[in-house]
Amino acid sequence: MTSDQHLEFDCLSKTFDGPDGAPVFALDDFSLRVAEGEFLTIVGPSGCGKSTLLNLLVGLDHPTGGAIRLDGSPAWEHRLEIGYVTQEDNLFPWRTLRQNIEFPLEIRGLDAKARERRSNELLARVGLRDFKDRYAHQLSGGMRQRGNIVRALSFGPRVILMDEPFGPLDAQTRILLQEQLLDLWAEERKTVIFITHDLQEAIALGDRVVVMTARPGRIKAIHEVDIPRPRDLHHLHENPAFRSLLSELWDALAEEVSSAARMEQA
Ligand SMILES: Nc1ncnc2c1ncn2[C@@H]1O[C@H](COP(=O)(O)OP(=O)(O)OP(=O)(O)O)[C@@H](O)[C@H]1O
Ligand SMILES: [Mg+2]
Repeated sequence: MTSDQHLEFDCLSKTFDGPDGAPVFALDDFSLRVAEGEFLTIVGPSGCGKSTLLNLLVGLDHPTGGAIRLDGSPAWEHRLEIGYVTQEDNLFPWRTLRQNIEFPLEIRGLDAKARERRSNELLARVGLRDFKDRYAHQLSGGMRQRGNIVRALSFGPRVILMDEPFGPLDAQTRILLQEQLLDLWAEERKTVIFITHDLQEAIALGDRVVVMTARPGRIKAIHEVDIPRPRDLHHLHENPAFRSLLSELWDALAEEVSSAARMEQA
């Protein structure tokens, strides 16, 4: 099996029942192959089906048509091998940071010693060792997001899904977390699908950037990011390849955002 058969979206579509009974066409004819170890970023206007795509991948919802396969079998069957950082910050408020990170290890039956070893290692790597006994409400937004990410990584998933994980953070914290994420990815080379509304972030992190159309979400364009790694995230804007891709993505997305806005008014 070649690595480009690793993860495959095959003519995927999803229609929801809208509140007034009319169908909401969230995704249509979405086909894409993701190679093992690839860092794929996805951008698209609000409501174009990005979160739906990830929910279908882990089996939280079922497609109306088409399929998602991981190594040739339905992706949802592999859900225990997939780490998911959802769009909402959802650390369990009744558990400390360390207990949150160890939760996926508990449900997989690791003993306390092994769990502690793994959570200590991850907490140290993202600079949170001193905060391990705090509860979510005692952590800053950036700390909680780091917690969400390392919890999704703790059990060594083969595929990691991230839905706008750095959305509400300030620019400096965002770059710090992007760097930490790229370091973790460089070490472990998992397949990552990362959704963002920030085009600079999509380029900074991705091997390829997928641009989706307004609803129903289809693939509008796929761009290779021709910038060598490791990337210096603080100076990417000086890189001509970065600048020209940014302007291309900006134009492609602007069209879709205005089309989405027209749809809202209709
Ligand atoms: N459970 C549901 N029932 C009905 N409609 C839904 C449901 N989930 C999503 N939708 C609709 O499907 C469309 C796609 O939603 P989705 O959350 O995937 O968009 P998104 O691209 O993630 O948007 P955003 O960038 O704002 O997070 C939207 O129109 C949304 O209202
Ligand atoms: Mg979403």
